[in-house]
Amino acid sequence: MHADPTKALHALSDITAAPADPILGLTDAFKADTRPDKVNLSVGVFQDETGKSPVLDCVKRAERRLLELESTKSYMPISGDPAYCRHVARLVFGEATAESGRVATIHAPGGTGALRVAGDFIRQLLGPRRVWLSDPTWPNHPGIFRAAHLETEVYPYFDPAANGVAFDAMLETLAHAPEGDVIVLHGCCHNPSGADLKAEQWNAVADTLRARSLVPLVDFAYQGFGDDLETDAAGVRTLAEAGLDILVSSSFSKNFGLYRERVGALSVVTESPDATARVLSQLKAIVRTNYSNPPAHGGGIVTTILDDPELTALWKMELSAMQSRIAGTRKAFVEGLKNTGANRDFSFLERQKGMFSFSGLDRKQVDRLRADYGIYIVGSGRINVAGITPANLEFLCKAIVSVL
Ligand code: LMR
Repeated sequence: MHADPTKALHALSDITAAPADPILGLTDAFKADTRPDKVNLSVGVFQDETGKSPVLDCVKRAERRLLELESTKSYMPISGDPAYCRHVARLVFGEATAESGRVATIHAPGGTGALRVAGDFIRQLLGPRRVWLSDPTWPNHPGIFRAAHLETEVYPYFDPAANGVAFDAMLETLAHAPEGDVIVLHGCCHNPSGADLKAEQWNAVADTLRARSLVPLVDFAYQGFGDDLETDAAGVRTLAEAGLDILVSSSFSKNFGLYRERVGALSVVTESPDATARVLSQLKAIVRTNYSNPPAHGGGIVTTILDDPELTALWKMELSAMQSRIAGTRKAFVEGLKNTGANRDFSFLERQKGMFSFSGLDRKQVDRLRADYGIYIVGSGRINVAGITPANLEFLCKAIVSVL
């Protein structure tokens, strides 16, 4: 017991407030904004043409089935339902690698939960080493790895002048990273820039990682939002098939629209089934001292859908409709800006993949959009394209042109 309880209370009252989260904090501010035509282009949540984030039809059907058939609320296995984990491995790596015995998958609470388990695994099992993040990256990445007591570094990734990947600079930096360091790569739909590596660039990255004994950790949260499920997995599969040991955090938040159910996974691929079994035992030990075992509902939905060919077909259709809406919106947005008289060429937005685009708007312009128009964009200039609808497109284009 504490010797002086009043001192402990006093210590708590001395704690200073944490800053608002750069992404989720903006949605809080957006909700509190009373302007009727406000627009939220911050957090990465899909919205349909009417600005709603609907529950997919396949999910609704799976939930009805689950409600009927569920027979227990007992604990899940520490690593989650094996059927769920098998589906994850197949979707991410393809049938052959998934069935090779080289993949250990655990169901983690969202992609974020998977990244944190990966961070703990790296720190506890591989020892202190640096984690390299792309510049720029998802603002939560540095915090997740620091919370796991890992030092972070950055490698060049986005070239604003070319509105594309600064590939030579990236590779040059990786080629000089200390052996054994961890390199975080975005599997597809780079967050925040929307600029992805091409197939031959993934091959070159694999060669460099192997030459330097670097450990890739792929953040794979948007499978199906770039082109399609298979094309988007090409980068991850290049690394896995090159025989590298790799860690992959994946998520069903976006492609099943299951954000609040926290459905993700961490997969580790090693060179042999024996090593994979040992890795899995260590992942379970980490999970047990953190959240013990994963929540069941979201994983149950995914498994129900992927176990059933009809529901799977419906899911693929709904996913493809989300992907097309985003691709179509990119086009409409570029045209809208041009027709409104933008004195800048925004055609690069059409080449970017996934939900996000780096608009090129600077901090002052982002602040003015929020203050003058109630348009919320992440401070880096990242726009969630899926937040643009036919109803807000004109308003948005006029507002952006007015701050350029
Ligand atoms: C985003 O980048 O907006 C999403 O990944 C949501 C989040 O948790 O930040």
